[in-house]
Amino acid sequence: MTPEVTVDQDVCIGSATCVQSTPDVFELNDEGVAQVKDAGAAPLEDLQRAEDSCPVAAILVEDE
Ligand code: F3S
Repeated sequence: MTPEVTVDQDVCIGSATCVQSTPDVFELNDEGVAQVKDAGAAPLEDLQRAEDSCPVAAILVEDE
């Protein structure tokens, strides 16, 4: 099952660490804030690494 990945866009500061590490999953929108493109595009451990590496903890990965 595909994990649920969400970005709290009120918290995201556009650091883009997530976009660099997992570009198939995250992208920056027109406001420079991350959004989820395809949560199933990377293995769970890569999603969890992105979650851990966000400097403001805006990413939540929930493994069903
Ligand atoms: Fe935003 Fe964190 Fe990604 S600040 S751009 S969700 S690494």
